[in-house]
Amino acid sequence: MKLYSSFLVSLAYATASLASAFSVADQARFTSLNASEASPLQLSSIGSGEFTTLSHPRFPTHRIRVKKSHFCDPTVNVYTGYLDVDAGAKHMFFYFFESRRDPAKDDVMMWINGGPGCSSSMGLLMELGPCNIDMKNVSSNGTLWNPYSWNSEANIFFLDQPVGVGFSYADYGETVETTEDAAKNVHAFISIFFETFTQFSGRTFHLSGESYGGRYLPVFASEIYDQNQVALREGRPAINLESVLIGNGITDISTLYPGRYEVECGTASLPVPFQSISTCVRMKIALPRCQKAIRDSCIDMFDSINCRAAVNFCESELSTGMMATGRNAYDISKPCEGNLCYRETDVIKAYLDLPATRDLLGVETPYNFSSCSQTVGQNFDAHLDKYNSHTQDYVSNLLDRGIRVLIYAGTYDWRCNHVANRLWVEKLEWSGQSAFAAAEWQNWVLDGKKVGEVKQTPLLTFATIREAGHMITR
Ligand SMILES: *[C@@H]1O[C@H](CO)[C@@H](O)[C@H](O)[C@H]1NC(C)=O
Ligand SMILES: *[C@@H]1O[C@H](CO)[C@@H](O)[C@H](O)[C@H]1NC(C)=O
Ligand SMILES: *[C@@H]1O[C@H](CO)[C@@H](O)[C@H](O)[C@H]1NC(C)=O
Ligand SMILES: *[C@@H]1O[C@H](CO)[C@@H](O)[C@H](O)[C@H]1NC(C)=O
Repeated sequence: MKLYSSFLVSLAYATASLASAFSVADQARFTSLNASEASPLQLSSIGSGEFTTLSHPRFPTHRIRVKKSHFCDPTVNVYTGYLDVDAGAKHMFFYFFESRRDPAKDDVMMWINGGPGCSSSMGLLMELGPCNIDMKNVSSNGTLWNPYSWNSEANIFFLDQPVGVGFSYADYGETVETTEDAAKNVHAFISIFFETFTQFSGRTFHLSGESYGGRYLPVFASEIYDQNQVALREGRPAINLESVLIGNGITDISTLYPGRYEVECGTASLPVPFQSISTCVRMKIALPRCQKAIRDSCIDMFDSINCRAAVNFCESELSTGMMATGRNAYDISKPCEGNLCYRETDVIKAYLDLPATRDLLGVETPYNFSSCSQTVGQNFDAHLDKYNSHTQDYVSNLLDRGIRVLIYAGTYDWRCNHVANRLWVEKLEWSGQSAFAAAEWQNWVLDGKKVGEVKQTPLLTFATIREAGHMITR
């Protein structure tokens, strides 16, 4: 166990702008800190009872409410809270865990889940967070400490975004329905985070996530990059974004269906194809037509009615066969059990809905928790958000500006499978394309065992993780 201190938060202008942006009644719900008495404040001295409210003069319509929490990882300082954006009407929930190694020096990273509409607490409690949901009812607190957590070496926050996801909510029914819109709130969140918690200012920063994160993160990173240039011109601090990490992501829609065919009807995942011959034949006939329709109506020239028709055709001809197998589409080696094919999902919901858990976290949403918000998913779908933008072009632009990118994929995922990912990464048009093409595939070996394959150049890395699913769990 380590002890941490020296976390200085400068609140020099804290209260001045608060008064203008929020009603008196609203403020009374929180502990307000006066600038004169509170500067500087130790982050570690933030209490675990009420929220402490922090604001920043440059973001007069935003504020952070944060409290210390005894949630999940007793070996580090843990904070949870809300960032209130857009005049306080949208409340974005976050969990922040200090690094187990050296929080004063280690990098900062953000993790988001996909969906669109899924809560980042899923990644936190099922995958890479400091604790896992207790599936055997052996712990007294509902979670078990995870020795492999990513906060072993990084300060990490998990953000429920956009509003309507997880514990994030809006007061007056405001919604965010496109990735490009979501990027604005995420950029505000990250800016305020670094400018408020000044001990992290300038710290190397990484964006990570999975699944629909393959659509979100390139856009979020680009928003950060572009806004950084504005900040630098105006003499303001920039966010030190170094890299983007995407696991089993959906980035370039042109390779999705050919990839799924290879997983089901080829030997990309299992040594013997698991789909029936008759279905594979049907799929193979449909594939060129699906690809052409997607190219004509979604990619080359986006037309919402025709693109929708193309997607419907592809889904019906190329996805229904997979559903009929009863296999878990996130891990084809397993049966589909439980909500979203994982038994953990319901246990996580039950745990996060407990009044005691909500208290521990300071949750204020009037709604119950959902792992994945259908409303948010439907709103994004209504805009065909997944299809109407060339997300891979954001990736090229980031690489050409020196942002490092890691694309990794578990080989047992069907949804956003490794074949589809490899295909788009290989045809990605950027300044290092030929160097990447020339790079050798290398085995990734751990404790004498081959766990995956890696291809890399200094900026772009592609890695597979053998026999892992969408969530990189076994
Ligand atoms: C903050 O300062 C104002 C005026 O300076 C004062 O009225 C108020 O009581 C102070 N708040 C706290 C929490 O001490
Ligand atoms: C878990 O264990 C506690 C006692 O240790 C028991 O009261 C509770 O019913 C159990 N829950 C489940 C879901 O088995
Ligand atoms: C919860 O309980 C487990 C096992 O009993 C323990 O390992 C873990 O540290 C506890 N978590 C917290 C936050 O106290
Ligand atoms: C939340 O869940 C509880 C328990 O299942 C239920 O009683 C309550 O009505 C739900 N609240 C909302 C807002 O759905």
